[in-house]
Amino acid sequence: MTSIDPFGRTDKLDEAMLEALVVRFEARGKHPLFAGMLREYLDAMHIDSAGTILDMGCGTGLVARAIASRPEFSGRVIGIDISSHLVTAAERLAHEEGIAERVEFRIGDTRTLEDADATFDAVVAHTLLSHVEEPLSVVTEAARVLRPGGMLGIFDGDYASLTFGHQDPDKGKAYDEALISAVVTNPHVMRQMPRLLSQAGLTLVTSFAHVLSEVGTADFWSSAIEAYRRLIPKTGVMTKEETDVWAEGLHSDSQKGVFFGSSNYYSYVARRP
Ligand SMILES: C[S@@+](CC[C@H](N)C(=O)[O-])C[C@H]1O[C@@H](n2cnc3c(N)ncnc32)[C@H](O)[C@@H]1O
Repeated sequence: MTSIDPFGRTDKLDEAMLEALVVRFEARGKHPLFAGMLREYLDAMHIDSAGTILDMGCGTGLVARAIASRPEFSGRVIGIDISSHLVTAAERLAHEEGIAERVEFRIGDTRTLEDADATFDAVVAHTLLSHVEEPLSVVTEAARVLRPGGMLGIFDGDYASLTFGHQDPDKGKAYDEALISAVVTNPHVMRQMPRLLSQAGLTLVTSFAHVLSEVGTADFWSSAIEAYRRLIPKTGVMTKEETDVWAEGLHSDSQKGVFFGSSNYYSYVARRP
């Protein structure tokens, strides 16, 4: 079955939706909780000692730019994404940040990379695997293009755990399930990741687990809700009116100090033997 997940078909979205994604990716990436989870696994990968790095599903180049801006890093990062619009945005942002000579962005599909075997010292996939239809093909491609001893970092939401509080728990559960089916292709992929890494011939080095919960007032989750509000009606899972009721209810909960929103996130660091 073809996925309805907009993040997995960014090559087919309209310009207005893509601009909304640019805003969302940048806002999410700058959030201290998100930035902290990124830094944690990049440190565990010893990313500063890598010479050439591949950022799979780079979007606006958030991870590529974060690596290129690290004071101890002197290598080069290549970002690949299926969306030409996001690749153009990534190039623009890298120029604006004065790091364009350390990064390069290309249009491509991470399920079938054009790069030769053993090209990269490190590969990163930041919130990509939950959105591709064949996650094993992405992990296998990452393993193929890594040099022996090279490190792979995979970060994503365990979106099967994504949930928002609602005064009617049954209604809340129905909303959660509708949201997850609309914006994620593989809500359980981070639970499958130890198996996928093993099937791709990689050795698990370490993992990190986080619960990104906000209780009372929404901050991280309020910008996510606004992005989902624009995306959900496009998937057909809920109408615009239904989605507005859902989003307004959550914003109202936040204003009243009774908000609850949560999802688990995981990072895996693996090595090519
Ligand atoms: C949720 S976004 C994450 C973007 C970026 N890594 C970040 O964390 O801000 C997922 C990205 O994967 C890209 N993508 C989805 N499927 C892809 C594929 N098969 N090959 C390359 N990129 C893909 C999308 O275009 C989108 O930019």
